[in-house]
Amino acid sequence: MKHRRSDFPEGFLFGTATSSYQIEGHAQGGAGRTMWDDFADTPGNVVRAENGARACDHYTRYEEDFDLVAGAGLDAYRFSLSWARVLPEGRGAVNQEGLDYYDRLTDALLARGIKPCATLYHWEMPSALQDLGGWRNRDIAGWFAEYTEIVMKRVGDRMFSVAPINEPWCVAWLSHYMGLHAPGQRDIRAAARAMHHVLLAHGRAIETMRGLGMQNLGAVFNFEWPLPADDSPEAQVAVDRYDGIYNHWFLSGVFRKHYPQIVLDGLERHLPANWQDDFDVIGAPVDWCGINYYTCKRLTLDDSPWPSVAEVEGPLPKTLMDWEIYPEGLYNIISRTARDYTGDLPLYVTENGMASADVLEDGAVLDPARTAYLDGHLDQVRRAQAEGVPLKGYFIWSLMDNFEWALGYEKRFGLVHVDFDTLERTPKASYHALAEALKG
Ligand code: FCB
Repeated sequence: MKHRRSDFPEGFLFGTATSSYQIEGHAQGGAGRTMWDDFADTPGNVVRAENGARACDHYTRYEEDFDLVAGAGLDAYRFSLSWARVLPEGRGAVNQEGLDYYDRLTDALLARGIKPCATLYHWEMPSALQDLGGWRNRDIAGWFAEYTEIVMKRVGDRMFSVAPINEPWCVAWLSHYMGLHAPGQRDIRAAARAMHHVLLAHGRAIETMRGLGMQNLGAVFNFEWPLPADDSPEAQVAVDRYDGIYNHWFLSGVFRKHYPQIVLDGLERHLPANWQDDFDVIGAPVDWCGINYYTCKRLTLDDSPWPSVAEVEGPLPKTLMDWEIYPEGLYNIISRTARDYTGDLPLYVTENGMASADVLEDGAVLDPARTAYLDGHLDQVRRAQAEGVPLKGYFIWSLMDNFEWALGYEKRFGLVHVDFDTLERTPKASYHALAEALKG
């Protein structure tokens, strides 16, 4: 890598990120069924109908995996806790084994000097709650607060940081409007309710953790940088709508206590009654803001119903996800977020990374494109820092190859290669390059 740790301010955190359903092996340890198990069991939803039942078997191999985190010289580890592992029915009876597991996992991180950065929800809604409407049902916010209290009473004293919900846009829009993630709905009313309830649940969880005396609480959003497909006024309208739905809705809700009009134009009539009254909860103060960034999108209008936005293929080199590599977008997002929403609040890049078709040959995995991707995005991190943006850390998605949701196991995002037959872990060349860069 061309960057070294010493190029960054003192105390800047380097980390890596994972999520529970993608790595743990959800069939183990008494966890309840989740909507991702249901989604994967539905023909056509997930490549080869793969699921997270075994995944990387991190449930039993976490010690070995944390040795890899420490071996790379990383300071922090962003992981998630599975609601259904702690509460198999989503509420009511606690699975003691699940709570014990997250307790051991936390101590295993601390024993290696790694800062535990937790997320309370990275998408595996307990099926029993999905049966009651999941994100569509306003009660989800209260159920989420109860889960938050149970799990944080146990491990909250040892967390470096906590964010309630990973990527509200994916939870709401991708899953209830586009139908591409569980629960696979294509329904604007469900989407509008999820767009609101996901933020309400975020706020309730923040309030709950404040009540427990916890600090360093944040929010993690995924953002894409929208570009017009051409210089027509229509393309600019498409950009503004996309930007509104994808980016501004969530930032505006949490940091300004209102929703952008350009999105309300289409969603207001589908929102739940009295949604305006929830902003004191939604806007509960946070201590930091996390940004997940991977790519840009090129947009134009089409003649479909609102928002009538269509994506156009772009010219830049792409990752295995077919995502254009556009590091400037990270700078744009970071600097605009700080300028327009968060001011002096610490920002973190909580996910950034790429999938490639990595192969294990003679005991090694050569992935120079990943190292270049990370270098390119770290350039933009430094550019934003040089302009005074309070960016405090950078987390790579992901520690190891894992279950990439609807795309199954073939999209390899890891710094560490996983053989999904033997579950053997092999650090890739990018892992070694990172370890070298972080030395000293
Ligand atoms: C993010 C998700 C993460 C992974 C990466 C590639 O949106 O948070 O689980 O799927 O994308």
